Amino acid sequence: MKPSMKPETFLLASALLCTLLGLGCSLSCELCVSDGPNCNGKLQTCAPDEDSCIVVVTESNRKGSLAVTSYKGCAKSSKCESGSFTITVNTENQLGSKRRCCQDDGCNQDPMPAFVRNHTENGLRCPSCITAFTETCTSTQETVCVGEETHCVAVSGLTQPGIKFAAQGCGTETTCHSKPGTLVPSGSRLLTIKKTSCRPSSQASGKAE
Ligand SMILES: *[C@@H]1O[C@H](CO)[C@@H](O)[C@H](O)[C@H]1NC(C)=O
Repeated sequence: MKPSMKPETFLLASALLCTLLGLGCSLSCELCVSDGPNCNGKLQTCAPDEDSCIVVVTESNRKGSLAVTSYKGCAKSSKCESGSFTITVNTENQLGSKRRCCQDDGCNQDPMPAFVRNHTENGLRCPSCITAFTETCTSTQETVCVGEETHCVAVSGLTQPGIKFAAQGCGTETTCHSKPGTLVPSGSRLLTIKKTSCRPSSQASGKAE
C-alpha cells in the first residue's frame, strides 16, 4: 500500500475485498423455516453475494385449511424487497405473504409484526387457474378478489424440488412488482417466483399470456 493512499480509498478497498472474497466479513443472518408466525434458528454466515437478511411470513389457505409459515435466511438485496405478495386463486386456495429485508448482522432475529390478511370480498373478479409442471395456465373460471387485491395476476415459478408451477388470480399491486427470485414459504415448501404479470381487475377477461 502506498503511504499516500487516502483512508476513503482504503475503506473502499477493504469493502471490495469483503464483497469479492468474503474475507471473514460476510453478513450473518438467522436461518429457519417452520409452521407458525415466528421461527428460531442459528445465525449463519451468508454467501459473499448475499447482502441482506430476510424474514417472510405466509398465510396460506389450501383446500380451506389455514396455515402460517415463517422463513428467515440470507438473500441478495436485488431479490429482496420489503412488502407483501398475495394471490387468490379461489376462496379455498389463497396465499398471502409479508416480507422484511435488512442489512445488519442478525437483523432478522426479531419476529415479524402481526400479519392479518383481509378476507373481505371487494367486488372485483379475475380469471383463475393453477397448475404444476408448466409455466402458464389457462383460466377456466373466475375468482372473487379480497381485501386490497385490485389486480389480476399471473405468476410462475418453482417449488422447492424445482417443479414448475403457474397460477392466475387476484393480487395486490405489490404482488405485481415482485422481483424475480422472490421467496414465498408455503406449508413445508419454499416457492421461488420467477415471473409476475398484472392488469387491473376491472378489465379482467380471457386468458393471460
Ligand atoms: C378489507 O377489505 C375490504 C374490501 O376491499 C375493505 O372495504 C375494508 O376496509 C378492509 N378492511 C381493513 C381492516 O382493511
